[in-house]
Amino acid sequence: MLRSKIAGIGRYVPEKTVTNQDLEKVMDTTDAWVQERTGIKERHYAHKYEETATTMGARAAAIAIERAGIQKEDVDFIIFATLSPDYYFPGCGVLLQRELGITSTEIAALDIRNQCSGFVYGLSVADQFIKTGMYKNILLVGAEIHSMGLDFSTEGRNVTVIFGDGAGAVVLQPTEEEGRGVLTTKLHSDGTYAEKLALINPGAHAGYHYRKLGEEVDLGYPETEYGETFITQKMLDDKLFYPYMDGPFVFKMAVQKFPEVIMEALHAVGLAPSDINMLVPHQANLRISEFVAKKLGLGPDQVWSNIQKYGNTTAASIPIALCEAVEAGAVKPGDLVCLAAFGSGFTWGSALIRW
Ligand code: COA
Repeated sequence: MLRSKIAGIGRYVPEKTVTNQDLEKVMDTTDAWVQERTGIKERHYAHKYEETATTMGARAAAIAIERAGIQKEDVDFIIFATLSPDYYFPGCGVLLQRELGITSTEIAALDIRNQCSGFVYGLSVADQFIKTGMYKNILLVGAEIHSMGLDFSTEGRNVTVIFGDGAGAVVLQPTEEEGRGVLTTKLHSDGTYAEKLALINPGAHAGYHYRKLGEEVDLGYPETEYGETFITQKMLDDKLFYPYMDGPFVFKMAVQKFPEVIMEALHAVGLAPSDINMLVPHQANLRISEFVAKKLGLGPDQVWSNIQKYGNTTAASIPIALCEAVEAGAVKPGDLVCLAAFGSGFTWGSALIRW
């Protein structure tokens, strides 16, 4: 049976480290608050004028390609997951193709906008294409540059302290090796709570969505016949272009959905939590990961956590964490690796991989 295997993995985090103490200097927060609520000690920020999701993604991709033992020209499909793209359009997939210097037009590029679960969604999409035999070297990238668009005033502190920049990438190839590769993936979505964790502006008639939710929010649309709704002066004046998060609500949903979707994947292949050698959860919050581990009866050596160093890097968090775990020798051939994510949308998902 044809399965997808991760043939190469790479990661890149920008050089600049920003500690909680650094953030204390620009907003009303404390290292103790951030560590106690999230586990985060520091995060990395991209170079302000020289790095983007695409450039960071390319750094991680180059490592994954080399470790897979292929040339960049062998890549036949690019999947790029990010919520912080270089441009509104086109997406980062084609920009990455150009950044890597892949000039062949036989390749295809796809962008995924599933925020924290973007990598798991991308893995599932790649897995389907590999299983049907359509592609043989899929480059899947998750990359984020949050630092360019967060509110660094006290008003934005509940969101800003959590997020960091970085990128991770894998090359997926077909394998017929017995028992190896992606065993299953499970995906879910529920748009009911789309605005609980969202960046709504600039956007197309965000006012319509607010009214549907029963809220009257004045976005300052001018009385012109055409256009002028995407960005308004009021959106800029009132700083309506920052991400919004109802933290406690997201937390409650996350601790419910993570265990559910992990159990769903395990049931699908007849395995139990005790069979998991390494759970690599999306690094949303250390408290969420600890809760999930406890619920599934997993010990600390069965769960990879690196949020302390990087914060939440959204679509990049799972490939960065998985890459670190592999490099540290914590994931060995034959191990059962479980990936799981939950985030804005809400969307969530899981994957089981026999390494
Ligand atoms: N520093 C200091 N105080 C802060 C703060 C910060 N960075 N951010 C918020 N606060 C304050 C709030 O203003 C509030 O003060 P008040 O009680 O005077 O109103 C208080 O801390 C508690 O805020 P609350 O939002 O209820 O805290 P919390 O215990 O829920 O923790 C999160 C906040 C964001 C850490 C937590 O809700 C969380 O992790 N949620 C999930 C987020 C997540 O995973 N997001 C990614 C999705 S994948």
